[in-house]
Amino acid sequence: MSKPLDAYSAMKITIDYDLPEYPDFKEGVRRAPYRESRLSASDKELAISNALRYIHPDHHRQMAKEFAEELQTRGRIYGYRFRPPGDLHGRPIDEYNGSCVEGRAIQVMIDNNLDFDVALYPYELVTYGETGQVCQNWMQYRLIKKYLERLTDEQTLVMMSGHPLGLFRSHSLSPRVITTNALMVGMFDSNDGFNRAAAIGVANYGQMTAGGWMYIGPQGIVHGTFNTLLNAGRIKLGIHEDGNLAGKLFVSAGLGGMSGAQGKAAEIAGAAAIIAEVDSSRIKTRYEQGWVSGVAETCEEAVAMAQEKQASMTPFAIAYHGNIVDLLEYLYEHDVRVDLMSDQTSCHVPYDGGYCPQGVSFEERTRMLSGDKDAFRALVDKSLRRHFELIVKLHGRGTYFFDYGNSFLKAVCDAGEPGICKNGENDLDGFIFPSYVEDILGPQLFDFGYGPFRWCCLSGKPEDLDKTDEAAMNCIEPGRRYQDRDNWIWVRDAKKNKLVVGTQCRILYQDALGRMNIALKFNEMVRKGEIGPVMLGRDHHDTGGTDSPFRETSNIKDGSNIMADMAVQCFAGNAARGMSLVALHNGGGVGVSKAVNGGFGMVLDGSERVDGILRMAIPWDVMVGVARRSWARNENALETAAEYNKLFCESDHITLPYIADENVVKDAII
Ligand SMILES: NC(=O)c1ccc[n+]([C@@H]2O[C@H](COP(=O)([O-])OP(=O)(O)OC[C@H]3O[C@@H](n4cnc5c(N)ncnc54)[C@H](O)[C@@H]3O)[C@@H](O)[C@H]2O)c1
Repeated sequence: MSKPLDAYSAMKITIDYDLPEYPDFKEGVRRAPYRESRLSASDKELAISNALRYIHPDHHRQMAKEFAEELQTRGRIYGYRFRPPGDLHGRPIDEYNGSCVEGRAIQVMIDNNLDFDVALYPYELVTYGETGQVCQNWMQYRLIKKYLERLTDEQTLVMMSGHPLGLFRSHSLSPRVITTNALMVGMFDSNDGFNRAAAIGVANYGQMTAGGWMYIGPQGIVHGTFNTLLNAGRIKLGIHEDGNLAGKLFVSAGLGGMSGAQGKAAEIAGAAAIIAEVDSSRIKTRYEQGWVSGVAETCEEAVAMAQEKQASMTPFAIAYHGNIVDLLEYLYEHDVRVDLMSDQTSCHVPYDGGYCPQGVSFEERTRMLSGDKDAFRALVDKSLRRHFELIVKLHGRGTYFFDYGNSFLKAVCDAGEPGICKNGENDLDGFIFPSYVEDILGPQLFDFGYGPFRWCCLSGKPEDLDKTDEAAMNCIEPGRRYQDRDNWIWVRDAKKNKLVVGTQCRILYQDALGRMNIALKFNEMVRKGEIGPVMLGRDHHDTGGTDSPFRETSNIKDGSNIMADMAVQCFAGNAARGMSLVALHNGGGVGVSKAVNGGFGMVLDGSERVDGILRMAIPWDVMVGVARRSWARNENALETAAEYNKLFCESDHITLPYIADENVVKDAII
């Protein structure tokens, strides 16, 4: 037999030889529940030997035992020993080592995703959405950092489901990092398939910006939630274009990573809101951060508080500590008028801890997840069915309910309630309640190209954020459309609304040209030394980056919403045009196999090279979505694409559809 390869001497970049001290776990920091795995004995061996690939063989005996213990008690191998001690923060870029600005910038973003104040389960590398991880384990984290420190502007770091495959030569206009997460081969692309792959250490659930390293705390979703609520008010409650939701009541559930934005968004839109949350630690976090204004321990208290605020037209968000189903029961029984209603529990993984069933406390739910999974599943199903029943009853009294992209409708259907399906049988024709994209965000924003553009001031200086807010505001023409006016007001008031959690970042919905103009302006400001370097990005929840038939592409009606070509083209096109970081994931906010989504990060260093990339890549990133939406015959997208064809006639051209007369088609059918 040939001698085994001495990997240690064949590599220049490895995690350090010496094992770090086992770190302490800080009291009060949320921990992920046990994760489902159902591994065979040989799978367990595979999981341990897979994790040992990062470790020098001198330590294998010790670490094999430690990994086996983690697998047994946690369902996953996180490599806790390799977590750097203490809290992590996205520090100012100058404090990071690196051979190029992108290598240092990306380290800021990763550390921000793992900040105790930002991340949902920081010890398990979960940023948000119950399962959305930066990478699989802390050995990968350490190795990624080593690679980012070495990365030059003529290399690309290749990331596969959290594993840094290596550095490969590219060129100065290539992405510095290309990352993919959980891209499973079709026949294995299921929850069970994913859980096994994650447990043996070959798959990472990146969600969207968790694995794309561009999460910016609950601020990342708050502008979209605000837009959704305000436009729901305009479309469904008859609120005037200049008005707000003063005096209206919004009810929902969840104060976690993303759902934590609901209270703040409702307040900015002028409403009173009651958000149910079963986990007291999350209520504490959101209250201390100022993302809810009041806390109620009983339904009675919550409703009294809300009604007082409605009467005085005062915006006010209340966290109700309890189960959403109990709250809805109370609202129905006491005939409380609810204007808008949604849900943002983690229903993309209802059986893995995402949804807490009625009658079960949060602590009990966590215990049950490591014990009787079948009994837990039955309770989740029962609760979801009751939840649905109450929504139907409140809807009957005039409440507008919408799915907020958490797979709630699908989860109710899977829980054995076919009444939620349009055809009364299965989800093939969609559901009786609309997804917020279908009714609101799709036609009003995505079809025009408006989406969640964001930036992070890498200096960490609040003054830089102030300067960029002002510059962005000056790039918007508020008189063009009501969407522009909304966005202009949003950025004007952003500082006042205290949205920053973690690094100095901002979210601002913009269309293709708005994003490009703002990006070019910021790069000019970096060039002139007015601000430090900036990382641009966006949520994956956008016009072009995501194919998700129950969410982002739910208003695509030409049958192509089951295809994932757009997300892949968007990702490939962004890579081809030189974005600094490009990401493509399976699953996103709706769960494994239900979406393909991609995002980007773009470092502004003030150079002309970056100006060139911005001019090519930013319009592409958005217009791929508008073009696809216009081909699906979406009215506003058709208008936007036609206008683009005129404006960019020298360089770009979008194929537009001829619209068939319905009667001609009907008459032709044999
Ligand atoms: N619409 C969007 O733009 C968007 C964006 C990101 C995420 N999402 C989806 O929204 C969902 C929530 O995301 P998140 O990051 O906030 O997840 P999260 O897991 O951090 O938060 C969900 C919260 O719901 C609470 N909860 C669960 N069951 C409950 C119940 N029955 N009653 C009251 N509270 C309950 C949990 O304790 C948790 O705090 C996910 O499914 C995610 O994929 C949607």
